[in-house]
Amino acid sequence: MNMWLMGGFSVVFFLLASTGLFFFAATRGALILRGLSADSPCDKSHVYPIYSNMRLIKLVDFQPIISAILLFQYHHLVSRIVHELRQVDLKNRNVLITSCAFGNVIPRVVQAAVQAGAERVLITDIIDNELVHARSKVGGLSAKVEFIEDNATAMRQPEGVAAVNVMFFLLHELPNHLKGQALSEAGRMLAPGGKLLLAEFHRPDVRVLRAMSWMYFKVFEPLGLALWNTHDPLNCLENLGGWTYERTTYFFGNFQIIVATKQ
Ligand SMILES: C[S@@+](CC[C@H](N)C(=O)[O-])C[C@H]1O[C@@H](n2cnc3c(N)ncnc32)[C@H](O)[C@@H]1O
Repeated sequence: MNMWLMGGFSVVFFLLASTGLFFFAATRGALILRGLSADSPCDKSHVYPIYSNMRLIKLVDFQPIISAILLFQYHHLVSRIVHELRQVDLKNRNVLITSCAFGNVIPRVVQAAVQAGAERVLITDIIDNELVHARSKVGGLSAKVEFIEDNATAMRQPEGVAAVNVMFFLLHELPNHLKGQALSEAGRMLAPGGKLLLAEFHRPDVRVLRAMSWMYFKVFEPLGLALWNTHDPLNCLENLGGWTYERTTYFFGNFQIIVATKQ
């Protein structure tokens, strides 16, 4: 084989392997090490260093990287959330964002909420560094935003505090026994008639994509696979009761948006 071609393949292989190793070390690998250490588990034990260490947060949070991780569907998914948010009468009401996320979802949701007349936008996360980072993204709108350290599975906010609750790719990172709890809390935070806008991974329809997705979750984020069956968020909402809902899937079923209305 041509020397240049071989050199090119080696470079691509090296880049892919080192990126994979980096992500493994900053996600599941770190949790495995944490599990082996003598520290007793706490309510933040499941959070990857990529979401708690400020250097790692700043290193990874670039729109092209984040879009690529979501197979370039990020923009569509956020646009759908913003579209749904705009359907709700937000005048003098609050919007809750349950946990921060990379990319521009936070500034886009905050901007849409403020433009629609929302009184406050409450951004919550279990990790303070995430809130500090989110504050740096909302710029001049921060006067309308409260940044609150809180646990999505045991929120300290009063019942019915929000007209809309945005939960963007949180569930797949929570331990399975807490996924339903987070949805129950999401409902408790909503006023009657309020909307939960939830974006998540979904079991792909196409076999090859399903196999690749399965490998990704097994290696990097094993807690995500339960969303395909035992902890399907729509089934969880049905079991909780008191919701009407609609699910749309994207990119051959790889992602889902659930719009759920609290009755
Ligand atoms: C919502 S996910 C975002 C992941 C997504 N892959 C992305 O592209 O950004 C990660 C966020 O959830 C937060 N988080 C994890 N567990 C939480 C919990 N129990 N309560 C509140 N926030 C939590 C993490 O601190 C982190 O900011």
